[in-house]
Amino acid sequence: MGYLATTNFFEDREFVDKWLYTIRTGELDLSWMKAGTEKVRPHVENPRRGLIYRDINLGSYGVEAIPEKVRLNRSFAPRGAEIPEGVPDAQPWVSRKSELWAHNTDGYYEEAVTRQWNATTDIPWDRLEGVELPEAAGKALSQLMTFLTEVEMIATDTPATWLPRLNPDFIEVKAFIAAQVMDEARHTEVFRKRALTTGFGLMKASPMNEMALKHLRDADSFSEMSVALHLVAEGNVLTLFRFSEYLSPTDVDKKIFRLVMQDEARHVGYGMQHFKWVLEHFPQKREILHGHLDEAENISFAGGAATELTESFIVLAGGGLKRENIEKGVRITTAFQLKQMQEHFERLEKCGMPERSSVDRSKLWAMFEMGKAAAAEAGIRF
Ligand SMILES: [Fe+2]
Ligand SMILES: [Fe+2]
Repeated sequence: MGYLATTNFFEDREFVDKWLYTIRTGELDLSWMKAGTEKVRPHVENPRRGLIYRDINLGSYGVEAIPEKVRLNRSFAPRGAEIPEGVPDAQPWVSRKSELWAHNTDGYYEEAVTRQWNATTDIPWDRLEGVELPEAAGKALSQLMTFLTEVEMIATDTPATWLPRLNPDFIEVKAFIAAQVMDEARHTEVFRKRALTTGFGLMKASPMNEMALKHLRDADSFSEMSVALHLVAEGNVLTLFRFSEYLSPTDVDKKIFRLVMQDEARHVGYGMQHFKWVLEHFPQKREILHGHLDEAENISFAGGAATELTESFIVLAGGGLKRENIEKGVRITTAFQLKQMQEHFERLEKCGMPERSSVDRSKLWAMFEMGKAAAAEAGIRF
């Protein structure tokens, strides 16, 4: 029969009889007590920190036990459990370690758990009461927050989409991704709250930004998603948050950006470690990663240079709409955009891909060179 499982348990005589038989007789099966699994004794390395994932990284339960291609576990069985006949094939899409592994993934997860903050109570929202921003700056801040809310919602959806597709043997990666989803939900929340507390409501959605975000969500593989999201997009966002903190009109905004930056640095950390791990362990994948970067850089360039973002930055940085304000705003915003590109290439270099910093390899590098020349001509230093 075609049913959700191979058996319809309500109609399975044997199954129902066994249930009733146990109730009547108290006779137990107890075969689970003979599971042929490893006995271990985890030790708390640091009592102040508690029992962390690394402390239970032991023998057949540890990460070293995971082969490059996981073929023995395709069910929902936890790594190290005895897997009997009859478990379903959960059809995970990602069962290769090289697709998602990164040094210190468990550490990023533990950090996410210990550094959780609360967008409702950790931000002194009451201090914004009675704060009236000038119209141009207020609208620009709200536009920036609208843009960021748009970004963070896809940053929530994208990793969440991949969670059930990852083989259950990759527990630490799944935990990290789940924690990231929670971080991004909190970012969506804090930016939405700040947009509405400006008094100007939300401003306008950005087609360019949404095109870029769609690319993240629609990546064909986890590794491609990670290159585009963790390494490229969130790398850019990290620079953006730093500049936003610098441009923040109030201390409350500064605090918001400091807190989101802390989370974002962790997401980028995982992305860099994954990228590095693939380059080190699978040098034959280098060209594939270049291919992912070709697309991700194109799209992130579009999102980063979107009118709704660039102009809100210019107005915030310049402090108004007068000619001298705009000139100042353009100077600061251009410096930010160039810095963002520079830091992207620095990250790639740190991960072991210095050859990306070349016009022959990267169209974004060509844009960076063009942008630098235009900035130099306009007397803009960065
Ligand atoms: Fe975020
Ligand atoms: Fe993030």
